[in-house]
Amino acid sequence: MYAAFRSIGAYVPEKILTNEDLSHMVDTTDAWITKRTGIKERRIAAADETTSDMGVKACEKAIERSGISKKEIDMIICATISPDYFCMPSTATVIATKLGLSAITAFDVSAACTGFVYILSIAKAFIESGMKKNVLIVGAEKLSAITDYTDRGTCILFGDGAGAALISATPHQNEAIIDVHTGADGAYADLLMTPNGGSGSAHDALDREAAGCYMKMKGNETFKVAVRTLTSDVVSILNENMIEASAIDHFIPHQANYRIIKAVGDALNMQDEQVVLTVAKYGNTSGASIPMAMNEIYEAGTLRSGELMLLDAFGGGLTWGSALLPFAPQS
Ligand code: ACO
Repeated sequence: MYAAFRSIGAYVPEKILTNEDLSHMVDTTDAWITKRTGIKERRIAAADETTSDMGVKACEKAIERSGISKKEIDMIICATISPDYFCMPSTATVIATKLGLSAITAFDVSAACTGFVYILSIAKAFIESGMKKNVLIVGAEKLSAITDYTDRGTCILFGDGAGAALISATPHQNEAIIDVHTGADGAYADLLMTPNGGSGSAHDALDREAAGCYMKMKGNETFKVAVRTLTSDVVSILNENMIEASAIDHFIPHQANYRIIKAVGDALNMQDEQVVLTVAKYGNTSGASIPMAMNEIYEAGTLRSGELMLLDAFGGGLTWGSALLPFAPQS
């Protein structure tokens, strides 16, 4: 059996936080944010809207578009660094219950912005081994809940949203996810982390800033490792599979920073029309960013059956990954 990427769905909250809004909150300007990141605005979830609420909406669309009935789903994996609950239950189990799915395998994966590529690789492995048939994967983030809105180095980057996909078993090799790379190097963990709040430190739930529960990032160092690692990883996944960059219909990178996307795209000689960009509209939504970007081209009618996608992502851990796959909706 092979694993086929059947459908995509996404959800974004209504509230828009613009660069202009942020310039009244911290010492920054629209011009600086636009030039250094390409971001113009991002979405912010309502106070009572959780990561699982957004995940459910994305999953419902992915299920509806898959042609697969809910009761056929046998596993759900959620990529998130902003789960509904600190330790348990996992956001995947909350999403499963809200979808009316019970007695299925459900768990979260913590790989920051690379989360969606990681859960894609897990879905592929479970399906190819014959252990599961229809795996729902969802990247969902309420990053506004772990962002320090007094830190101009991070608060300008992040937004909220969710994206989901259904991955199913197929006997047809032409529908198969071709390859997925995943990697990590904990030696760089301190470049991007939420320093406290875990078992390694005292946890003061009443004062999240004092407890160090917000994201901290050494942006410039992270930027350099991201460009270097992503470029070498996408070059190797293309070479190993003997696929030319010119054969890629849609290059769908993690939407962290336009300059990172441009540097990797240029290294591959990608043409503008191959590169999917949503960073200006949604900012960095971590594990949700790739499926949200994929959903944009699906809803625009430009993602068609059989077209080849190249995904790449980089994030806290540090983690990275890439994937080569055709879009394979059920005919
Ligand atoms: N507005 C105005 N000035 C600012 C801002 C801001 N929002 N933020 C920083 N600056 C200042 C700095 O203080 C510094 O000033 P100085 O020269 O006087 O010291 C100057 O701008 C340059 O700062 P850098 O950090 O060198 O700026 P850089 O060009 O690197 O851009 C950014 C910063 C946008 C954060 C970039 O480094 C970046 O995108 N990094 C990678 C992010 C990423 O990919 N993370 C991984 C995924 S996220 C995840 O996993 C959750």
